[in-house]
Amino acid sequence: MTRATWRTRLGFVLAAVGSAVGLGNIWRFPWLTATNGGAAFLLLYVLVIVLVGVPGLLGEMVIGRRSRRNPVGAFGELGGRPWRVLGGVALFASVVVLSFYSVVGGWILRYTAASATGAYFGAPQQYFAAIDFGVGAAAFHALFLLATVAVVYAGVDRGIELATTVMVPGIVVLFGGLAVWAWTLPGSAGGYEFYLSLDVAYLRANFFDVLVAAAGQALFTLSVGAGAMLTYASYIDEDRSLAADGTIIAVLNTGIGVLAGLVIFPLLFSLGVSPGEGGPGALFVGLAGAFADLPYSRVVGVVFFGVVLLAALSSAISIFEVLVAYLVDEHDITRARATAGVGGLFLLTGSLAALSPGLFALLADTIANLALTAGLLGFLLFVGWVLGPAAIDEYRTGAGTVARMTGRPWYYTVAVVLPLFLAFTLVSGLGGVLGVPVTAPQAAAIAALGVVVAIALVRHRVDTAV
Ligand code: TRP
Repeated sequence: MTRATWRTRLGFVLAAVGSAVGLGNIWRFPWLTATNGGAAFLLLYVLVIVLVGVPGLLGEMVIGRRSRRNPVGAFGELGGRPWRVLGGVALFASVVVLSFYSVVGGWILRYTAASATGAYFGAPQQYFAAIDFGVGAAAFHALFLLATVAVVYAGVDRGIELATTVMVPGIVVLFGGLAVWAWTLPGSAGGYEFYLSLDVAYLRANFFDVLVAAAGQALFTLSVGAGAMLTYASYIDEDRSLAADGTIIAVLNTGIGVLAGLVIFPLLFSLGVSPGEGGPGALFVGLAGAFADLPYSRVVGVVFFGVVLLAALSSAISIFEVLVAYLVDEHDITRARATAGVGGLFLLTGSLAALSPGLFALLADTIANLALTAGLLGFLLFVGWVLGPAAIDEYRTGAGTVARMTGRPWYYTVAVVLPLFLAFTLVSGLGGVLGVPVTAPQAAAIAALGVVVAIALVRHRVDTAV
């Protein structure tokens, strides 16, 4: 059976942007900005996207296109059997992320419908508290999952590519419209000031915390660490420039994130709602509750949650596809069966998360971050020390002159700088989870030692394997 490919370059880019743009941009990013010093966070975030996110994304894409396989097959093909374990980490991270993501997708679906009837307008707090977890939440999660299944089932080019080619421009147009409309509301100016003001003193005092937050967000929003971009890149042809496509994806993703902030903050300020804490409540209680006071409140609600729904769906598709690609490539079963099997798996894990707030929080707040960071760390050590200079060849394949020149700097960044940085955030994060707070210098020392040992072990394996 010949492997699927994207029909057009634009099709791939839009599918990847669809993966990147999601709940991460719409509620996580604006609120992180608000609670981490406004424009100071924005600056640092853009820096982390450029220095960490984009090279990391390109690392995943290099593995995918070089091998033309799902994550497990890719590492096995390029490095030998034992490396398949890295693909296993990717599958694990994918299961973790989609299990809670589709629960939130279910909430969004419900709010789209509830906006049409105005169900939450009277008592937003009580409404959210009544629907967030339980059998109803599991049911709406299942509906959201069903939509994901339908797209993935239709295939890479006729399902994913077609759907995201319609959805992504739709997201941009609708958000653009909402941003302009929010600007016309009385009192919106306070929102821009809050969102875009530069709090340098805050940044100075909390530099490392803000940096770790920005790094986690950069990985999540670019969909790296779980093999989704690796899988999407496995369907690209050789004549494309990975560097150019990766840069376009990151720029569009960041742009849409900023745009989401330009909708949310002016809206909140004009309605006199204080931008609360981050997390689910912010979107569903503060913002949604305020819709009731607007003219055409139902239309506003349906359009707003409808866009968020599109964004969430086009992200969920990419995570789901990782597991389907694995089953189709490695176990030689049909796409239809693979889709049904993976759907069944997520029906189970997602329902558990929908029934248990504790499990949901554990997956969303803790395990996802750790798994994505560990995943990307492993991928990049592989690119740097197992693939080695072949990675530069792959990076340069199909690239123009400018992109070719960035091959070598990119390689050193991926082989040395990023592993150190990711190990640092991993150690800091783990310290927090285990309740043993580590200081920044301690985390840096542990990370450096860990990376050196890991590289030595990898080199030893590669040398003895030949
Ligand atoms: N990037 C998406 C968002 O911001 C979420 C997402 C999709 C994702 N695919 C992923 C996150 C793979 C991590 C890994 O909402």
